[in-house]
Amino acid sequence: MNELNIHIRASRKTDFNDILLVQSQAFGHNKEAQLTADLLHDNTAEPVLSLLAFDQQKAIGHILFTRVYINAMTTNQPLMHILAPLAVIPEYQNQGIGGALIQEGLNKLSQMGSELVFVLGHMEYYPKWGFIPDAKKMGYSAPYPIPDEFANAWMVQPLNAKEFTVEKGQVVCANTLNKPEYWRE
Ligand SMILES: CC(C)(COP(=O)(O)OP(=O)(O)OC[C@H]1O[C@@H](n2cnc3c(N)ncnc32)[C@H](O)[C@@H]1OP(=O)(O)O)[C@@H](O)C(=O)NCCC(=O)NCCS
Repeated sequence: MNELNIHIRASRKTDFNDILLVQSQAFGHNKEAQLTADLLHDNTAEPVLSLLAFDQQKAIGHILFTRVYINAMTTNQPLMHILAPLAVIPEYQNQGIGGALIQEGLNKLSQMGSELVFVLGHMEYYPKWGFIPDAKKMGYSAPYPIPDEFANAWMVQPLNAKEFTVEKGQVVCANTLNKPEYWRE
């Protein structure tokens, strides 16, 4: 990672403004920052995993994983998550920080006992970290239909079991993320 000295840690309540700044700078608009703020206040998203990357004291990257269910938000379901959103501020992009946040996130989720992680994202990017394209083909449809040409952008990976032992069905996200506006390209 060149001469950068990056460290990653779980975010704290006092990091809230830094998180929103990273998200809005990375995307160049506020939609994902607002989504992040809403998810961090959404009980149905818990347990969340929110990680911040720092260069010295400067927050430069953020990743958020929130709870998902299959078919309905019922108790006694295995722990499962979705990755959204991921952000690295422009001057730090393409230096491995996004990848480091994903890897650290997957390690931490695995320790928490999460069984499956979903993502809707770039088809060339996420498979580098173990995500398998076309989760629907594996039996896990998205909260809203994904057009065929983007089927590979809806991805999943098993964490603890090395296979798909979790009941198949439709993924249900936290209330905030379970809105159609987040599922249209
Ligand atoms: C996408 C993003 C999180 C990647 O983080 P990063 O730290 O720049 O990425 P890394 O350095 O870990 O990985 C770099 C690799 O990802 C690729 N990559 C970077 N941005 C990409 C994008 N938007 N789409 C596809 N691939 C991308 C690079 O080409 C590079 O590939 P290589 O390793 O084959 O050369 C970051 O660029 C970002 O915040 N972008 C704006 C917000 C965004 O699009 N977030 C993703 C939402 S799904």
